[in-house]
Amino acid sequence: MDHSFINLQRACATLAVSVASTFAVAPAAQANEVSAGQGIAAHGTAQGVAACIGCHGAKGEGNAAAGFPRLAGLSAAYLSTQLTAFADGTRPNPIMQPMAKLLTASERAAVASYFAGLPSPALAKASGSGYVTPSDVGAWIATRGRWDQALPACVQCHGPGGIGVAPTFPPLAGQPAAYIASQLHDWKDGKRPPGPMALMPVVASKLSDADITAVADYYAGVGVGVGVAVGVNGAGKSANGSKP
Ligand code: HEC
Ligand code: HEC
Repeated sequence: MDHSFINLQRACATLAVSVASTFAVAPAAQANEVSAGQGIAAHGTAQGVAACIGCHGAKGEGNAAAGFPRLAGLSAAYLSTQLTAFADGTRPNPIMQPMAKLLTASERAAVASYFAGLPSPALAKASGSGYVTPSDVGAWIATRGRWDQALPACVQCHGPGGIGVAPTFPPLAGQPAAYIASQLHDWKDGKRPPGPMALMPVVASKLSDADITAVADYYAGVGVGVGVAVGVNGAGKSANGSKP
């Protein structure tokens, strides 16, 4: 009997609690950080870092056609961990790596806080809450997983409709299909660092190429109305970056 399914579920709960308590910042310091981050996002830096919004969109909504990921409403902890991974080369990427290296640690934290505070794109209500059959491969994997393979449903960690569960589990809804697929392939091929408790390499290893295409298309279809400034995610963030 394979216990990895149970272990993955336990890991979800443990991580959500332990990481949540680590990232509390005083309000005034946070406001300064957010405005410094906004400057970097809009203008880049004097050291030659390009404006983030040029690729990630004016509202951090991403660019579906180009496959550039959405950053708006992702947790600051997640964003800043990824920027550090680009900077130290553990997450290799020819576009992001050189820019992340040119940012200081505090600039990375600032720009992460800024994008985290932007409202999530308006998301369509997830399909798949109703009747799904195994032939709807993407919806099935996303909402049911595959018990015989000990593959948990994506929703168990990424939340209903893939809205994300801050701070550890990033949203999938509203991410470009090409981006989701490339990340899953990178984990299968060992090209993206394993991340918290190496959960995603295990998940990705159980997906065929056809599964990856189907689930990426499913989540890209769930996110619509990108760019509309309506925050509907469960991350507890609003336009001014306040927290409940
Ligand atoms: C020239 C286009 C371009 C610019 C400019 C750019 N990015 Fe990116 N960014 C990308 C691409 C492409 C990826 C996907 C990399 C991959 O596949 O691993 C990415 C990925 C990311 C990720 C990982 C997102 C995730 O969900 O894991 C973060 C964080 C990020 N960028 C932040 C920034 C910040 C902050 C800036 C500005 C300082 C910036 N980017 C500027 C193209 C760009
Ligand atoms: C057991 C928990 C768990 C399950 C189940 C899970 N994920 Fe994840 N996923 C994670 C974690 C944790 C991360 C963050 C990885 C990191 O920080 O590097 C992540 C990140 C991702 C990312 C990267 C997002 C980004 O912004 O770069 C993609 C894509 C992804 N998961 C897709 C999926 C898909 C598709 C499924 C279902 C087949 C799935 N995940 C199921 C835990 C899970």
